[in-house]
Amino acid sequence: FLHKLVLGIETSCDDTAAAVVDETGNVLGEAIHSQTEVHLKTGGIIPPVAQQLHRENIQRIVQEALSASKVSPSELSAIATTIKPGLALSLGVGLSFSLQLVDQLKKPFIPIHHMEAHALTIRLTNKVEFPFLVLLISGGHCLLALVRGVSDFLLLGKSLDIAPGDMLDKVARRLSLIKHPECSTMSGGKAIEHLAKQGNKLHFDFKPPMQRAKNCDFSFSGLQHVIDKMIMQKEKEEGIEKGQILSSAADIAASVQHTVACHIAKRTHRAILFCKQRNLLCQSNAVLVVSGGVASNLYIRKALEVVTNAAQCTFLCPPPRLCTDNGIMIAWNGVERLRAGLGILYNPEGIRYEPKCPL
Ligand code: KG4
Ligand code: ZN
Repeated sequence: FLHKLVLGIETSCDDTAAAVVDETGNVLGEAIHSQTEVHLKTGGIIPPVAQQLHRENIQRIVQEALSASKVSPSELSAIATTIKPGLALSLGVGLSFSLQLVDQLKKPFIPIHHMEAHALTIRLTNKVEFPFLVLLISGGHCLLALVRGVSDFLLLGKSLDIAPGDMLDKVARRLSLIKHPECSTMSGGKAIEHLAKQGNKLHFDFKPPMQRAKNCDFSFSGLQHVIDKMIMQKEKEEGIEKGQILSSAADIAASVQHTVACHIAKRTHRAILFCKQRNLLCQSNAVLVVSGGVASNLYIRKALEVVTNAAQCTFLCPPPRLCTDNGIMIAWNGVERLRAGLGILYNPEGIRYEPKCPL
């Protein structure tokens, strides 16, 4: 008996990743090349640079994933690749590479929605039935959705401006945490979490955003501007130049993290109650899945655990390496689609990537 085998390829942002996953969720091989180090130096992703790095690495990464899996390309059941949403230049590299491979190997092609793949990853590691709630929080994503099936999503809320990780990265940059001896190699969000442990979260009283909005949307840029102004004022008070580290940096980090956690937890609480009231989620067995880079923040997790406990909802997170961008989630989404008979293309000619694409 031969299991179905899917090769997954991901290049939507700044990771070049590939994996081979079988029908039962065994990860047979995987490889990833992260561009974080390069983008950290330039203070953000420069799309043509990301494109160039994807081009330089994609062949090797796919080869590594295949070799590690000991699967010969002819044994693959399909090739699944992220085609939306993401950076146009980055998506283009993965798509054109995949279309060549599909053509060479004469295999079916499964186009993948990056956010759907994030949302379904939990089903690779845990036995989670539909429907369930998912919260995706990272540098580029911020959404709350009800997952009703492999290709059936109800968007409940999203950020009206930037994602929480983006905001934490901006605050970390403004605080020059890259020059902090303890945080110089960490992402902005991780640096904030680290420093927050040494600070007083109640020192600055930032108002959680959108307190009166009766929906499940998010907003982070207003808060970011308030913090920017406050940092400028503190720099004046402490008589230091822009680029030096404030003595109050830890208190700022702790207060920012606290406010972001409260905001995320409150909006999520609303979504759980909304779904339960309308019987969109099982009353006795509701599940919230949280994923994305920001989900690795233990303070934010704690806040989410408090609201899920209060709402009698099970709280689940994929393991950290599956919370951030990876090839496994793309291959797994291919498996789910193959099993459900959804979106399998035998002639993918003319397929385009879509940088902007809602759930
Ligand atoms: O999922 P991810 O690797 O990439 C995308 O953005 O898609 O998430 C990266 C984001 C960055 O903004 C980073 O600052 C944030 O996740 N992040 C964190 C933590 N670790 C990473 N934010 C808060 N706390 C953390 N421990
Ligand atoms: Zn992602």
